[in-house]
Amino acid sequence: MKTRIAQLNQVTQSRPYSASKPLQILDAELDTPKAGEVLVKILAAGVCHSDLSVINGDRPRDLPLALGHEAVGEVVDVGGQSDLKPGQRVAMVFVPSCGCCEYCDEGRPNLCEPALSAASAGELLNGGSRIKVNRQPVRHHLGISCFSDYAVCDRRSLVAIDSDIDPSIQAVFGCAVLTGCGSVIHTAKLEVGESVAIIGLGGVGLAAMLGARAAGAKQIIAVDANPDKAAFAMAMGADHFVDARDPDAAAQIRSLSRGGVHVAAEFAGVMPAMQLAIDTTRRGGRTVTAALPNANDRLPVDIAALVAQERSILGSYVGSCVPSRDIPNFIELFKGGRLPVDQMITHRIGLEDINVAMERLAAGEAVRQIVVMG
Ligand SMILES: NC(=O)c1ccc[n+]([C@@H]2O[C@H](COP(=O)([O-])OP(=O)(O)OC[C@H]3O[C@@H](n4cnc5c(N)ncnc54)[C@H](O)[C@@H]3O)[C@@H](O)[C@H]2O)c1
Ligand SMILES: [Zn+2]
Ligand SMILES: [Zn+2]
Repeated sequence: MKTRIAQLNQVTQSRPYSASKPLQILDAELDTPKAGEVLVKILAAGVCHSDLSVINGDRPRDLPLALGHEAVGEVVDVGGQSDLKPGQRVAMVFVPSCGCCEYCDEGRPNLCEPALSAASAGELLNGGSRIKVNRQPVRHHLGISCFSDYAVCDRRSLVAIDSDIDPSIQAVFGCAVLTGCGSVIHTAKLEVGESVAIIGLGGVGLAAMLGARAAGAKQIIAVDANPDKAAFAMAMGADHFVDARDPDAAAQIRSLSRGGVHVAAEFAGVMPAMQLAIDTTRRGGRTVTAALPNANDRLPVDIAALVAQERSILGSYVGSCVPSRDIPNFIELFKGGRLPVDQMITHRIGLEDINVAMERLAAGEAVRQIVVMG
């Protein structure tokens, strides 16, 4: 099967990306899916900061790599026997669950051990690559590689969903919504009536903000270093906006929340934002981060204060979600008007504009951009 892919050959910080074009749109050959694998026609794919972090080297991966990890598609063909039939709409999940490791057994498929090994190697869960350019294998990005017309994935990277809403909206559920909503609801276990600060208002942060509202947050303080995000956040239901660049940003958040928020959630991926989250968490509260900063970033933590104030600092991967449960649930909330994640989609583009999209994301000129295929 022939497909176009968006291939990354080398890490670069040379901007603008619209000119340096780190992603090459190439014709590739996909193998026939093996038993337990699925050929998917990609319908729509979201552009996430984690894609940018592979391009700029914040999250190093072996190359060449076919990029993209947030998408929905339609089943075209299956290898061997499968519960999925051609025509089935599927959401693609960037951490497959093997179903039999210790973490999967514990109900934490987001931490699946074989999935981590496969992702590190750029392979599918059963090993190896199914993508070739000029007969040379190309690595898969998190088992998905969805900036493509078609992809071969493991069945365990897919969640069957209904095809009753626009795929360009459904695309954001596989990463931004699972990660954002899950981080406040599942990881931080937000309770009704609690106050929340959302620091970093990209697709993941805004999804978290909507999730916090749906879960009954009493007060939502939206925070970003880009003042252009203020109008966006307020229109999507924030109670207040604080500019993270203000020297007294922490004092503003503490004052608005009368001493600090119950949950300070960070989605910016830079240390000043994480420090702000820690500094604005109230006594007894939770600081949660789902951002993936540069792997070398470190932050000193006042452990005595952590203990005496009984606070928690939590990391959240895939929002601590069980994707096969949570994607359909979050889609239902969207359909009921309680999770209007379509509001964070700022651009719909063709695959040929993927480098322009990466530049817009790096420049802070977009929230979620969707590559609409076909
Ligand atoms: N844990 C996971 O499973 C997971 C999944 C997806 C994405 N991520 C990570 O989540 C983060 C957010 O992704 P995204 O796609 O929403 O990114 P994005 O680039 O769209 O948004 C980041 C936002 O942070 C803001 N920001 C930058 N510096 C700031 C500061 N000092 N204070 C406050 N705000 C600041 C930016 O202006 C921007 O609005 C990234 O680090 C990404 O890699 C993690
Ligand atoms: Zn992502
Ligand atoms: Zn597992």
